[in-house]
Amino acid sequence: MTLSSPQLRPLDIADPSTVSRWLDLHEAIAEHDFPHHPVQTPALLAAGLAVPSPDSSTREWLWWEDGEAVGGCRATLFLKENGSLCQGSVYVHPRHRRRGMGTALLEHLESFAAEQGRSVVSGWPPLALGAAENDTVGPFAERTGYERALSGKVRRNVLAETMGPGLARKEAAALPKAEGYRITGWAGPVPEKYAAGYAALESRMLADQPTGSWVREDSEYDVDRIRAGERIERRRGLTAVHTIAVQERTGEVAGHTQLWVIPGEEKWANQGITIVDPAHRGRQLGLLMKVANQRRLRSLRPGIERVFSANANANAPMAAVNDALGYEVFGGSAVFQKRLDGGNGQ
Ligand SMILES: CC(C)(COP(=O)(O)OP(=O)(O)OC[C@H]1O[C@@H](n2cnc3c(N)ncnc32)[C@H](O)[C@@H]1OP(=O)(O)O)[C@@H](O)C(=O)NCCC(=O)NCCS
Repeated sequence: MTLSSPQLRPLDIADPSTVSRWLDLHEAIAEHDFPHHPVQTPALLAAGLAVPSPDSSTREWLWWEDGEAVGGCRATLFLKENGSLCQGSVYVHPRHRRRGMGTALLEHLESFAAEQGRSVVSGWPPLALGAAENDTVGPFAERTGYERALSGKVRRNVLAETMGPGLARKEAAALPKAEGYRITGWAGPVPEKYAAGYAALESRMLADQPTGSWVREDSEYDVDRIRAGERIERRRGLTAVHTIAVQERTGEVAGHTQLWVIPGEEKWANQGITIVDPAHRGRQLGLLMKVANQRRLRSLRPGIERVFSANANANAPMAAVNDALGYEVFGGSAVFQKRLDGGNGQ
């Protein structure tokens, strides 16, 4: 297979039949490779095409054979920070694997990234954990020269099993440590009175969590950027369920956690970021916020049964909170990365 193959064409989002084939392909891969994983729903994939983010620019290509889309790749270029990085993904229909298409798609993606002046390509695919599951990504990444820049685990929490009296006892035991803090929350846009503090915490997101050797810069958030993000979420049909901890004396937003309810998915939700400002750590705020947020989720969406959370292996404090909440390890996750210039990627 060659890079200039006429079978490889940009995804034409103005053509409904192409978009439909693209969704068919993603559904076939999700069913085959990730049947129980929290992968993107067709509704979320389609919304991502129709409602682009102002913070990044995404290009996607499809590989066609006999009128069918059998593979593809996506490149996301960040526009406000991470100017050296291209976030990529490559996918091939299960019936068309081990013929070199994945390699050809990846080479195409890397050439595009280099043309656009990016020196690092990275991807964050879901991974099978047990040997019984189908692990295509690990061997493929190794063969194509990608390092594992960050290793993590995906955990799963079955809410009906874990949100019982045992958790209520842990919550009651934690409360005295959090004296002087108020736990509160909402679904959707952040209330104006918390917006500035919330934006400041978001800006610390990467600074405060282990990122391994992943070349990734922090994003700076102000209230305008938060509001722009919320508009995109609304248009894509995403609902964010938030809980924060507020220090009563100062009114400071000391911590934040969020759960994502995604369009087209009634049974599970995804854990988003959880952060406690370093000045306010050691007071069980992480545990208390997460318990309160799960409760908020259950009252808003009683049909949701499970929550998934991906954490870096090195993030012991977060894993400890998740263990206390009853999460169990379900699968792996990893960031794979390649420095195109052979240098340090900075
Ligand atoms: C990973 C994936 C893109 C590979 O596509 P592909 O067309 O089969 O890849 P290639 O044929 O170019 O494989 C190149 C080499 O990778 C390695 N490899 C790929 N799949 C493998 C597997 N299942 N087991 C062991 N090695 C594998 C082999 O060394 C292979 O060379 P070989 O066939 O000569 O032994 C495909 O399996 C896939 O779509 N997986 C699910 C989606 C996904 O998670 N994508 C990653 C998102 S970033």
